[in-house]
Amino acid sequence: MSQHSDINDTINSLDTTDEQTSNNTSAPIDTDTNARHEIEPGSDKHIRIVNTFMKRRTHMNKNAELALTAPEFSEYLVNNSFGNGDLSGIDDLRALFADSPNGSDAPLTLEIGFGLGDSFIEMAAAEPARNFVGVEVHEPGIGKCAYMAGTQNLSNVKIINGDAIQLLKQLPENHIDRIQLYFPDPWQKKRHYKRRFVSPERMAIVTRSLKQGGWFHTATDWEHYAFWMVEVLDGFAGLTNKAGAGNFTDRPDFRPMTKFERRGLERGHGVWDLIYIKD
Ligand SMILES: C[S@@+](CC[C@H](N)C(=O)[O-])C[C@H]1O[C@@H](n2cnc3c(N)ncnc32)[C@H](O)[C@@H]1O
Repeated sequence: MSQHSDINDTINSLDTTDEQTSNNTSAPIDTDTNARHEIEPGSDKHIRIVNTFMKRRTHMNKNAELALTAPEFSEYLVNNSFGNGDLSGIDDLRALFADSPNGSDAPLTLEIGFGLGDSFIEMAAAEPARNFVGVEVHEPGIGKCAYMAGTQNLSNVKIINGDAIQLLKQLPENHIDRIQLYFPDPWQKKRHYKRRFVSPERMAIVTRSLKQGGWFHTATDWEHYAFWMVEVLDGFAGLTNKAGAGNFTDRPDFRPMTKFERRGLERGHGVWDLIYIKD
């Protein structure tokens, strides 16, 4: 199934409207409108940012709230700012572990959009010699994830509240060993395809911060997005499909089943994993 026309339509729509992915900015997300508006650097042009997420207002359970406020969990929260997502000054993920047992040179994984964090924490607990940073915009999930890290006394986890695209733009080149994006929002309607995380322009931002030989690992339960992803990623210069062009990979043992994956399977969806290596 070729998605060429869908992908090209999306790129064209990004070019012909004033909507763009975020430029380097510390502008916080407006939690009422879920939009970010910025003044383009060097001009007075107003630009509206296309986010890959929709902020959800869901119930915050007591443990999540505790973790977002109690000092014993603060070591996990890089920017403990309720509803804000201010990423100012976060420009080095390795430095976050300078005082931890692993130190800052240990292999580093960044998970984008960990949701409630169950599978992210399971991976971090299973690989204590690797450092794990998670970035999410959903505060109940951030709180729950910090709570699990704290109750398991993990020393290799840090959590960032904010937009992963904005964060990645602030990081150095060749910085991260693995970037994982599990079951990203599929944005099923054609007019929303431009919100899909896997797009040529967002992949340029992801790839820049990956180390040479580093991995980008993604998985989805949405068939249209799976074939869209393989087309975007196979066509992206600088990345090589570990399973060979056009192929998906089996779920590797190190990736636990995620909450959204389980929900997809219950609805009869398939699951497609993709791993790409930076050349
Ligand atoms: C469909 S959920 C999947 C959650 C989890 N990975 C799982 O499989 O259960 C996608 C998550 O990605 C988050 N997300 C989407 N775009 C993001 C971005 N640009 N930065 C940070 N988080 C993002 C959303 O808030 C949401 O929690």
